[in-house]
Amino acid sequence: MLCVLWFLMLVMSDSISERLNSFLCTLAGRSHALAKGQVSLVGAGPGDPELLTLRALRRIAEADVVLYDNLVGPEILQWVTEGAECYYVGKKAAKHALPQDDVNQWLIDLARAGKRVVRLKGGDPFVFGRGGEEMDALLEAGIAVEVVPGITAAVGCAAYAGIPLTHRDWAQSVTFATGHLKHGLDELDWAGLSRPTQTVEFYMGMTAADGIAEALIAHGRSPETPVAVIYHGTRPDQKVVIATLKTLAKQISAEAIKPPALLIVGEVVRLYRPN
Ligand SMILES: C[S@@+](CC[C@H](N)C(=O)[O-])C[C@H]1O[C@@H](n2cnc3c(N)ncnc32)[C@H](O)[C@@H]1O
Repeated sequence: MLCVLWFLMLVMSDSISERLNSFLCTLAGRSHALAKGQVSLVGAGPGDPELLTLRALRRIAEADVVLYDNLVGPEILQWVTEGAECYYVGKKAAKHALPQDDVNQWLIDLARAGKRVVRLKGGDPFVFGRGGEEMDALLEAGIAVEVVPGITAAVGCAAYAGIPLTHRDWAQSVTFATGHLKHGLDELDWAGLSRPTQTVEFYMGMTAADGIAEALIAHGRSPETPVAVIYHGTRPDQKVVIATLKTLAKQISAEAIKPPALLIVGEVVRLYRPN
């Protein structure tokens, strides 16, 4: 009986990979390849390599040069073709590996040298990824640029923690905000973010977690509002800590959670069930 099951699984998996191969061939025939002198701003998703889009995978494999961020892991970089150049230009909060202007200029120079360039970023290039600045600089320099969207951390982390971002009973809207602002937390619209029946997700909110919780409470959100802190979401070492606005800072420090982590604030967090 076991042998029969094993044989069936083998036949089925063969047929899946055949179908997948033929699907990929059809797609490759239909979509255009990355051109010489073109830059592709590619979203690599939140970590799990299976969350890469097919277009992202294709662009990584086609590139002559890849400039990547610190949130892009080795499982994804293994798809860079042998012989292609691959450089780390990532930024860790307050420790910029390379100033943004230098990255922009490097992309322009590589494209002008006729390379097929991939700028590979964690999550989505246009969600707190400075993709907009890079696109502007490239267009201004007359370089052809495309954007390949990726699954942003807010969506990937919520899904892997089993927390729905909207829910007919609990949250009618969802907002993505950053906890890392040029001129401090006052730049955010706290009255808007504090309204009930919405979910708010904070990127880069770990160092400012205390201030974020204080501001939300001061603007009317209940101190008992649940908050999920998700470290390394979608990765094998993903960690989820459930707190409330009142206990957030204390729990982050007690559990020693470090960036990269995401905060999900709202009643939907009550639906979280640990595995
Ligand atoms: C500079 S932002 C880049 C966001 C990215 N462009 C995106 O769309 O997800 C970096 C922040 O995203 C969040 N982040 C990215 N990947 C994450 C992950 N796998 N788990 C938790 N948070 C993540 C963290 O808040 C981190 O500090």
